Amino acid sequence: MIGNPVDYDKNFKENFPIFPAKLDLELKRYLNLISGKEVLDLGIGQGRNSIPLAELGYNVTGVDYSTKCLEICKNSCNKLNLIQSDIRTFDIEKDKYDIILSRCVLHFLHKNDSYQIIQNIKNNIKNNGIVYISVFSLEDPRFIKHSMSSDFQILDNNILHNKLNDTYVSFFSKEEVLNLFSDFRTVLISDSYCLDQGGETPHYAGVIKYIGQKI
Ligand SMILES: C[S@@+](CC[C@H](N)C(=O)[O-])C[C@H]1O[C@@H](n2cnc3c(N)ncnc32)[C@H](O)[C@@H]1O
Repeated sequence: MIGNPVDYDKNFKENFPIFPAKLDLELKRYLNLISGKEVLDLGIGQGRNSIPLAELGYNVTGVDYSTKCLEICKNSCNKLNLIQSDIRTFDIEKDKYDIILSRCVLHFLHKNDSYQIIQNIKNNIKNNGIVYISVFSLEDPRFIKHSMSSDFQILDNNILHNKLNDTYVSFFSKEEVLNLFSDFRTVLISDSYCLDQGGETPHYAGVIKYIGQKI
């Protein structure tokens, strides 16, 4: 493991908003590809996708490092199995999960760690199971902004090191994500650039979304 996990609890001390739970259309569209009901959400946050999935009857296990995020999930839905852990040390039970998602999380790690987590997901998800991930793309304006800041050190492979708190932020290309999942059946890959109005202040974001199926 390289560096510290990003401190989401600190955000809440600074009045971070509580977001409504909402199943992503991309994931909703492909739920028919699997018949089982076991879901693992690595970096569940406030339960954006996991709460609707639990309400639909899926058995959801959510992992997060943040005490506050887990508290929000617990207060919003009593059907979730919540685990406080760094996702870099969390053991994924083999052949248990039909869906493994990690939305808007893996870019907050050094790529050595995110690649390792992706390998663990691929090794342990059930056959025919689907993976859903989203990560910052190279088009994200924060890549240039952080690269120009003296707080960040620029490393190889589009990884930035935040020297102030020893965390990492990584930016991905579409080809890189497809290569990481070259042994999976691609169901969806998208690379978007848009105004994100969901955060504390509206900002532009570049995001790669990937859904793949283990074959
Ligand atoms: C931007 S939020 C995304 C939350 C959720 N997946 C969603 O789509 O709304 C990132 C979440 O990942 C969690 N996280 C980041 N790094 C982590 C790590 N190394 N281990 C566990 N959780 C982590 C944060 O605490 C936070 O809840």
